[in-house]
Amino acid sequence: MDIVPLQPADYQSIVFFTGAGMSAESGIPTYRGKGGIWTKYHWEQVACEEAFRRDPEQVLTFHRERRLGVAACRPNSGHHIIAALEQQHPRVTVVTQNIDGLHGLAGSARVIELHGSLWRLRCPRDGQRLEIKPGSDYPDRCECGAWLRPDIVWFGDNLDQDVINLAMESLAECDLFVSVGTSGTVWPAAGLPQIARRNGAYSLEINPEANENSRLYDRAYRAPATQVLPRLFPSVTGPVRA
Ligand code: APR
Repeated sequence: MDIVPLQPADYQSIVFFTGAGMSAESGIPTYRGKGGIWTKYHWEQVACEEAFRRDPEQVLTFHRERRLGVAACRPNSGHHIIAALEQQHPRVTVVTQNIDGLHGLAGSARVIELHGSLWRLRCPRDGQRLEIKPGSDYPDRCECGAWLRPDIVWFGDNLDQDVINLAMESLAECDLFVSVGTSGTVWPAAGLPQIARRNGAYSLEINPEANENSRLYDRAYRAPATQVLPRLFPSVTGPVRA
């Protein structure tokens, strides 16, 4: 595949917009496509407010199992390249749909988690939040007795307005927008590439498969993230571990 290397210094502000495909090579299943989470579970039963009200223990068990699976996975070289780039360029932002925390684990500091985090719980009654360390134990109930809800944007939830504002600010000034591993099916996240394009960013898609959003990008690389990112940013050196 012909990959045109980029010089990060040619850009003022770089945004990486990532989806589940970013973590696929870390061993974390995507949501759609072969082996996807939504081919094994019905989100209506495990990932929405109505299911949480109806059967909180089923919902909490699903998320406990997801945490166990994610805790066994490590950031891949794609995560590390993005984190290393942030060390070498003044303005790199990750806007991720992922809840697995792997960008942060790889060392990225400017990470906007559009859909929340698997590693945070919140009490729907008193609003208390609880950060979870992978591998550590954590309660299902708040001290007030209410079931603790994963602090994740479920189907039907609104995104946190502060998070949306942060994402929009990063898009307003971005002149390089690199989308990695998203099917572009879930709104409002799916609208980000259009906004970046409208703001004049040069936009790239890294995804082995095309989707209906693919037409929005200036260029697409139909290959896995860890094959494209090192060749897209050859000048990025640093602790890029597999
Ligand atoms: N490198 C890059 N892309 C990949 C790789 C890879 N190694 N492997 C798979 N992909 C691509 C797939 O082709 C697919 O287009 O990653 C994409 C994953 O799509 P989804 O599973 O739909 O994940 P995502 O787009 O992140 O879903 C968005 O949906 O269920 C909700 O809230 C959940 O954040 C999630 C949202």
